[in-house]
Amino acid sequence: MVKHAGGVLLPALRVEPEAGTPITIQLAGTLRNLILSGDLQPGERLPSTRTLAQDIGVSRTTVVNVYDQLTTEGIIESRVGAGAYVSDALEFRRPVELKLSNTKKENPGLKPRLANLSADASQQYSLRLPHPEHPLPFTTGIPAFDAFPMAQWARLSAEFLREPRDDVLRYPDSSGLLTLRQAIAVHLRANRGINCSPDEVFIFNGAQDAFNRIGMTLLDPDDAVWFENPGTIGARNSLITCGVRLIPVPLDGDGICVEDGLQLAPDFRMAFVTPAHQHPLGVTMSLKRRFELLRAAERAGAWIIEDDYVGEFHYSGRPPPTLKSVDEGGRVIYVGSFSKSLFPALRLGYLVAPPKLVETFHRIVSATVQGAPTHFQSIVARFIQEGHFAAHIRRMRKIYAERKHALIDAAVRHLDGLLTVKPTETGFQTYAELAPEFDEVEVARRAAERRIVVSPISRFSIVPVAQTGLILGFSAIPPPAIEAGAKALADLLRTMRAEQAR
Ligand SMILES: Cc1ncc(COP(=O)(O)O)c(C=O)c1O
Repeated sequence: MVKHAGGVLLPALRVEPEAGTPITIQLAGTLRNLILSGDLQPGERLPSTRTLAQDIGVSRTTVVNVYDQLTTEGIIESRVGAGAYVSDALEFRRPVELKLSNTKKENPGLKPRLANLSADASQQYSLRLPHPEHPLPFTTGIPAFDAFPMAQWARLSAEFLREPRDDVLRYPDSSGLLTLRQAIAVHLRANRGINCSPDEVFIFNGAQDAFNRIGMTLLDPDDAVWFENPGTIGARNSLITCGVRLIPVPLDGDGICVEDGLQLAPDFRMAFVTPAHQHPLGVTMSLKRRFELLRAAERAGAWIIEDDYVGEFHYSGRPPPTLKSVDEGGRVIYVGSFSKSLFPALRLGYLVAPPKLVETFHRIVSATVQGAPTHFQSIVARFIQEGHFAAHIRRMRKIYAERKHALIDAAVRHLDGLLTVKPTETGFQTYAELAPEFDEVEVARRAAERRIVVSPISRFSIVPVAQTGLILGFSAIPPPAIEAGAKALADLLRTMRAEQAR
């Protein structure tokens, strides 16, 4: 063991009695840093408590307390009759990065070595749309927070916290709370025509977590996955993480073009679709196209992810049945989320597995997932079981329909000849076609300067698409703000048109 004179430490040790931080914390922090940065080596002897106290002008009790604390942390060891030493255990777990932190500036290019899969994926990720702190006209994908029944939610939350402690505090079931899986099964039967048992439902931390799990479970690197083009960015990134080959499949008025998919990748292993409200264009997949897709998947032995993220929100007539409800071949993995129907901070989503995958998902989640927070799962289960969820959806449908009308109305009055807002019968957002002289990216950039959020279609495209234009959200924006936003957007487009004419 290296023996070192205790005095060696002293020049580096300083405490500031006037600094707001207690001396014990200052001294423990300085010593800890000296040790973890490698300035003091494992086995080196620290000064005695008496010496150190005298040298830096603090009470001996303070130093004893600091040594006790660092001993508890495993950073130093006390040896009876021999004083305190830097722990030998640090030889094996010294965090090399801490030493490097001083040299960071000298090595700006130093990068951690990534797994091949992760390195490849991170080159292909697209930036997800930012979520502003407060929704602006025309932020997409956010429910109407202003209409959320907060008091009811708080009551259910308080009720839950009065339940027996074991129920409140213990680890949740990895597949999800049984009461929530039961409530989801009942909700899906009544509202989405899906007959499933709670055993087929698996709860995740949001839909995106479910997409990633599905990919990791069923896909190998380089497997072909049909992906709507343009399409959603989050799911795209989740699947890219698995190393798969995304096949951008075009869309028409019926939804994903199955014929094109078959031409591009007849050997596809999976198709990712948003049939209720294609993200981002808003097309509802026709019934005919749904059956074509199911047949193609059956023939290829491929899986289909049906992302039903806004399935509850349709504003007129009867929507076509979910793919899952007409999936006789058992190819569809249905994914739902409470991010839109309740609120995104919940981080609760779920999948409904086809019967032949139930056992697989059970095995995988029980081995690798520790479950979503019980508190939120339990409140959502009660919210559904007591009928509040159905009432909330009905109320929100009305609010969203009003906001959608407000947008279409305002567009007709203010944006005529500049931007044509396409009507939509579902969802939180709609597609708007720009007059041909405008560049969609430039419009989005200049709109952002005026605190207006519009997303150009190209943001969602894996390869360039025929459509150009903008996606406008309406769900989170009260009608007066929609009106003001439409006026401001019209003003911008007129300014840009005038600039081009000069
Ligand atoms: C197309 C699509 N699917 C699903 C989701 C829900 O994802 P999560 O449950 O992870 O919030 C979103 C959220 O924005 C989305 O845009």
